[in-house]
Amino acid sequence: MQYDADKLMEYFSEAPADIDMAELDMERIPHHISCIMDGNGRWATSRGLARTEGHKAGIVSLREIITACVRLGVDVMSAYAFSTENWNRPQHEVNVLMHLFAKTFIDELPLLKRENVRVVFLGDIDALPKKTRDVFEYGLKECAGHTGMVLALAVNYGGRAEIVRAARDIARSVADGSLDIDDIDESAVAERLYTSGLPDPELVIRTSGEIRVSNYLLWQIAYAEFYITDTYWPDFDRWGLVRAILSFQGRDRRFGGLSAAK
Ligand code: FPP
Repeated sequence: MQYDADKLMEYFSEAPADIDMAELDMERIPHHISCIMDGNGRWATSRGLARTEGHKAGIVSLREIITACVRLGVDVMSAYAFSTENWNRPQHEVNVLMHLFAKTFIDELPLLKRENVRVVFLGDIDALPKKTRDVFEYGLKECAGHTGMVLALAVNYGGRAEIVRAARDIARSVADGSLDIDDIDESAVAERLYTSGLPDPELVIRTSGEIRVSNYLLWQIAYAEFYITDTYWPDFDRWGLVRAILSFQGRDRRFGGLSAAK
C-alpha cells in the first residue's frame, strides 16, 4: 500500500530513545498486521477501575494503531475484539462491549472516511444483538466505497467455528455437484473463510504477555511471526507497533525451507 512520507514522519516524530525510525525498512512493512488486544481488564483493575473502563481505554489504542498502520502503508490491519468464548463473561461486561462496539464504529466513522479505510467483520455478526448489528450494517455501508487499508474486526469470531463453517460449505458444494472432491485444495478452504481475499497475517501482536493463540485465525496464521509484549493493550501505542515491526524485520522467515545464509 502507498504511504505518504510526510504524514509518516509527522506521525512518528519524537521517537523514544530505544527507537531509530531510520532502521525501519519501508520495503518490508508486513502486508497484514493482526492484534490480539489483550489486557484491558487487568489494565483497569490495576488502577482500581471497573474492567469496562479498560475496554474504553482500549478503544483509544485501537484508534492509534489503525492510524499508525495507515501511515505505514499496511494493507490489512486486523484486531480480535470479541471471541465466540467471550459470551461466557459476566452479562454486564458483554452488554458494555456490545454497546462499545456500536458506539466506537459510529464515533470512528470520520477517521475511517478521512483515511479511506475499508472495514470488514470476521465472525458471526448475525448472532449479535440487533442494535449492534444494525449499527455495523450502517457503518459498513458508509465505508463501502473505500479503497485504502482494510480494517478487519473479529467480532463473535472463533477459528475452529470458522473452519467448520468452511467445511460445511465445501460439503454443500460437493453435494450439489458444483465442486469435485479432487478440487478441494487449500484455496477452496481459504476462499470460504471470513478472510477470503485478504492476505494472511505476517505479524501477530499479542499484548499483556500471554503466549497463546486463543482460537484466533487458526488457518491464516500458519506462517505468521508472533510478537508478544507485556504491555497491556490500553498502553500499547504507535511505538509499540514500531518495536513489533522492527522485531519482525529482524527475523529469518524460512517458511519451512532453509535461510538464504545456509
Ligand atoms: C481483551 O482484554 C479485550 C477485549 C475482549 C475487547 C477489546 C475490544 C476493544 C478494544 C474495542 C473494539 C472495537 C470495535 C469497534 C470492534 P481482556 O478483557 O481479556 O483483558 P484481561 O485479559 O486483562 O481480562
